[in-house]
Amino acid sequence: MTDTNKNHLSWDEWDELQNPPPAVTDFDLVVERAVSRRGFLGILAMGSAAVAMGSVGNLMSSTSAVAQDAAATRFPFKPIAAQTDATIHVPEGYNWKPLAKWGQPLFSNVADIDPVKGVSLEASDKVFGENTDGMESFQIGNHQVIAVNHEYVNNETNLPHAPEGMPQSLDDVKILQNMQGVTVMEVAEGENGWEIVLDSPFNRRIHHNTPMKLSGPAAGSELVKTSADPAGIDCLGTFNNCGAGRTPWGTYLTCEENFNGYFGSTNAEFKMPDDYKRYGIAAETRYGYEKFDERFDVSKNPNEPRRAGYVVEIDPSDASSTPIKRTALGRIKHENAAVVIARDGRVVVYMGDDERGEFLYKFVSNGIYVPGGDTSKLLDEGTLYVAKFSDDSTGEWLALTEETTGMKMDEICVFTRQAASKVGATTMDRPEWVAVNPVAIEAYCALTNNSHRAVLKDGKMRTNAGGDVMELNAANPREGNEFGQIVRWYPENDDHADGKFKWDLFVMAGNPDVHKDGPYAGSSNINSGNMFNSPDGMMFDSTGLLWIQTDGEDSNEGDFVGQGNNQMLAGDPATGRIERFLTGPKGGEVTGMTWASDKRTMFVGIQHPSAPFPDGEGALPRSTIVAVKRDDKALVG
Ligand code: FEO
Ligand code: CA
Ligand code: CA
Repeated sequence: MTDTNKNHLSWDEWDELQNPPPAVTDFDLVVERAVSRRGFLGILAMGSAAVAMGSVGNLMSSTSAVAQDAAATRFPFKPIAAQTDATIHVPEGYNWKPLAKWGQPLFSNVADIDPVKGVSLEASDKVFGENTDGMESFQIGNHQVIAVNHEYVNNETNLPHAPEGMPQSLDDVKILQNMQGVTVMEVAEGENGWEIVLDSPFNRRIHHNTPMKLSGPAAGSELVKTSADPAGIDCLGTFNNCGAGRTPWGTYLTCEENFNGYFGSTNAEFKMPDDYKRYGIAAETRYGYEKFDERFDVSKNPNEPRRAGYVVEIDPSDASSTPIKRTALGRIKHENAAVVIARDGRVVVYMGDDERGEFLYKFVSNGIYVPGGDTSKLLDEGTLYVAKFSDDSTGEWLALTEETTGMKMDEICVFTRQAASKVGATTMDRPEWVAVNPVAIEAYCALTNNSHRAVLKDGKMRTNAGGDVMELNAANPREGNEFGQIVRWYPENDDHADGKFKWDLFVMAGNPDVHKDGPYAGSSNINSGNMFNSPDGMMFDSTGLLWIQTDGEDSNEGDFVGQGNNQMLAGDPATGRIERFLTGPKGGEVTGMTWASDKRTMFVGIQHPSAPFPDGEGALPRSTIVAVKRDDKALVG
């Protein structure tokens, strides 16, 4: 976050530089919500108790009794301190080892990446891509297969010959395109620990030119037809693959987030279509694809960006399968896709749209999931909803239909943000991952931060890109929110398909050392020993422990003193207790997590380290998945 070289910034960091928040925030604006730290906690505690006695009583009464009895031992590790160095730290009794690094071969006929020359075009679609993100592991017969995202590239490290890493040719563009997307790879544990199985038939790279299909209401629409694809069905590539998800039928869901950043215009006269603004599609890009690859030049292919921004379904068991873009799940800056089955068997998918003041969504299928049955239409036919959080701790899912929005179904699926604005959804503090508790009927969303929340510009309250005012509300209660919070909801009738829910905040991150009282100290489950900022990745393990990963400010200065590098913590839903489990290398984001089938290994992703991780002093920093185990080889999730 302190690196001002544009090529090393995530999209949001770049945006922050262009639209910096005020140096001083106005605490008066939070008076209405910012009850004293203790007062806020009282509300939290009451909300939880009420819910435990009510809508989720049946499940919670058995599990919470167990959890509370075991509270002292709920965390199977001794928490660690914040760190600021160049490596990973895990608790005593645990160990870690790299599994897959940026540029590492997936096939035996490819060499490891050359840190000086980068990767060759020939090798670039046969190696582990850059900037690992969301991942899932699959047991396929006797094989352990991991599907993992590569969110974006640092141009300079992949094109070391190019000034500022900007492509000089179509070949340069193709290298960048190949180093992003998704890797599917078989992994196995041997004498040297977990390693990639070279040449496995499961090994596959999916990138910015991989053939895929559009399905659902926007497939075949005029909005997605191009000269190369007049039917509007056959598209190429998946972009800015951020978080992930999995279906009960064994497929991988990769989520297209900041897709806008790849599309630009070479024609200064071209009038950008009105809908581009909401998604941030602009003439200038940080990748420069449009200069050499016409598909990305919106002045020539204005519909091409409307073919990105979806959840994409991939069958990891068949390397020849065609990925499918599920347009029914909406076109937003998708963070992840958390799938759960409703009481009647319908498929529910929770999804965050990660941008300041954007919304939280839910898709509910028309059909029901039958194990072994036809699943091909479950993510094509259904209803998309967007969340409204009321200040009285209730909420509702607002359906995005032709009746509620006045838009046609294909328009709803392509211009989803605009549809959601029409029905009055609640602007959120950048919804990142959603995680669904496997042992209680509840779900969580990480609201990472929002430097513009309730901040004035030119005398007016800041808005999202669609003009929706980002006023304070109870779910997003802090002005200029730089720490983030995790919101939790409990569906009515213990049913994730229900249209209503109750909610509370599981945690408000903060710094109780710097801010002794008030909202920026954080909620009562934050203390000097576990504080963090910018929750992002979240996954539940099979025991119902919530794992929280951060992507935030790691300067360890000012408001962030004592918080150290980005990190991974575990939270106990029953007690609210949170403990730090892992710290990442300087400059890196901890993102993406999955478990080996036997639950004796957790795989954790480290994205964009600036320190020479994992190979040490003098080596190039490499985005890496690490395997974390207990020394005694006991279960880790
Ligand atoms: Fe790719 Fe919102 O993180
Ligand atoms: Ca993220
Ligand atoms: Ca983030």
